[in-house]
Amino acid sequence: MPRIRTGIPEFDEMLRGGFMPTDAVMIAGSAGSGKTTLALQYIVNGITKFGENGIYLSFEQMPDQIYRDASSFGWDLKKLEQEGKFRLVLTSPNILFGEGGENLLDEIIKEIGAKRIAIDSLSHLSMYVSEDKLRLEAYRLVCFLKARGQSSLYLWEAPQLAGTSFSFTELGMSFLVDSIVHLRTVEIESTLRKGLVILKMRGSDHDKRLREYEITSMGMKVFAPFDQYQGLFTGSPTKVASEKFKEMFSTVAKGNKK
Ligand SMILES: Nc1ncnc2c1ncn2[C@@H]1O[C@H](COP(=O)(O)OP(=O)(O)O)[C@@H](O)[C@H]1O
Ligand SMILES: [Mg+2]
Repeated sequence: MPRIRTGIPEFDEMLRGGFMPTDAVMIAGSAGSGKTTLALQYIVNGITKFGENGIYLSFEQMPDQIYRDASSFGWDLKKLEQEGKFRLVLTSPNILFGEGGENLLDEIIKEIGAKRIAIDSLSHLSMYVSEDKLRLEAYRLVCFLKARGQSSLYLWEAPQLAGTSFSFTELGMSFLVDSIVHLRTVEIESTLRKGLVILKMRGSDHDKRLREYEITSMGMKVFAPFDQYQGLFTGSPTKVASEKFKEMFSTVAKGNKK
């Protein structure tokens, strides 16, 4: 089965080629972790590298800000929009989940022949509706977009928690999606670094390791796993024994040379 590539080579490799077509993927992370950047990159790469047109739906930001943020990474959303390959949709939960919300999306999907969509963000909805309603509306949206053949990213903003624990709301949401990617901050030797982990991917093998990433002027870049550390999820990492041994050994070796 062909995969839906993000166009970020190391991330696609973690996903064993990419996301599964029409999957609902949750991108969870705290503010500033890079969710919006990753989602824009997924949409822009879809259009420019893989010929899959896309929609960016935001409840949060002003349009100018999104165009400006994207252009700081070299992504010209206005041009893609003029070419009929991209649509920025700014809406409120009331409109999207009210009468006619699905028609609005349906029209845009047909108009540009969209294959990908990013929703920024699902957590924003929780400010407007009760927990039960949130799950129901999110479920409807996930089903609707799947039925329309969309491979979708749902951004979820949550404060960083110790461990892998999710809140009750997040747990409820996690059952609705096929895959979950978690962007987290890790503190290593008094430095804050960023780590990406795939927590779940229905129907596929995937990289289980926490891998370092950075947001650069070109977008997200993914690096090697933090495999010389353990305990990164609990917030008190220690070097694994083999790394400690290597360090001790090299210190001793250096000492011997003197
Ligand atoms: N052009 C850029 N070059 C490098 N880093 C950037 C650029 N634009 C934004 N960033 C960094 O990316 C981080 C993540 O931003 P964003 O994707 O908006 O996070 P989120 O949506 O998770 O809140 C910002 O905090 C900033 O440090
Ligand atoms: Mg954001």
